[in-house]
Amino acid sequence: MISATPGRRKTLVANWKLNGHAEGVEAWLEAMAPIALEGKLDLVLMPPALWMERAGKWLARHPGAITLGAQNVAACEEGAYTGEISASMLARAGARYALIGHSERRRLFGETDEIVSRKLACCLAAGLTPVLCIGETEGERRAGETDRVLERQLAILDEGGGFSPGASLWIAYEPVWSIGTGQAATPELVEAVLSRVRSHWAGLNATIHEEPRLLYGGSVSPANAASLVALEAVDGLLVGGASVEPESCADLCRSVIRALA
Ligand code: 13P
Repeated sequence: MISATPGRRKTLVANWKLNGHAEGVEAWLEAMAPIALEGKLDLVLMPPALWMERAGKWLARHPGAITLGAQNVAACEEGAYTGEISASMLARAGARYALIGHSERRRLFGETDEIVSRKLACCLAAGLTPVLCIGETEGERRAGETDRVLERQLAILDEGGGFSPGASLWIAYEPVWSIGTGQAATPELVEAVLSRVRSHWAGLNATIHEEPRLLYGGSVSPANAASLVALEAVDGLLVGGASVEPESCADLCRSVIRALA
């Protein structure tokens, strides 16, 4: 099996989606920063974009604690695109990462592979690390199409558009049927999929700063986080619902840190 890079610290990404409230940003950061500063787990907060600068200001006073990411990014750098926020605007607001191709964006907002590919290029050009989300639906899984779907979603990497020795890439396996359902993927499935993702990357011969970080997301909770993060193939977890409240997120981080001890 191809495994995660030995010795690399694992990561927990908190994707708040359309949840939380403005004052909750500082409360969350205050609760989570001491855990991050222990240095056992890298923490990334992805709040609604409106609060990115607010979080960035807090983090400027507490350097090194937590990093910031965006839940979405425009597929163009500038122009007449009402409501969009570009990769370089996000970078200037303090973001280091941006989700691209999250299944909620694909399913609810019509984000196609072609759009995801343009978002990838925009992130790389602006120096943001794209976090490419891939995953099959329940129907695709039942039809035995998981591999085909994942290969199609990964194919946007094949053109190598914008990869350079200084670039970074993260890839998150988030099976659609597991998001928000309480039904996380089994460790066996996560290992099998992430190993295939790593092989796909290895076949591309693209040079970037370090091996892509591979994450799992989908109904991660304080109860199952330990068994998922302990997998060799897993570099980190992408957490939605359980990451929004500081108590639940702290519980989750504690169980991850215990599992990695
Ligand atoms: P849940 O953790 O709420 O299932 O969401 C996962 C997800 O979509 C993270 O991006």
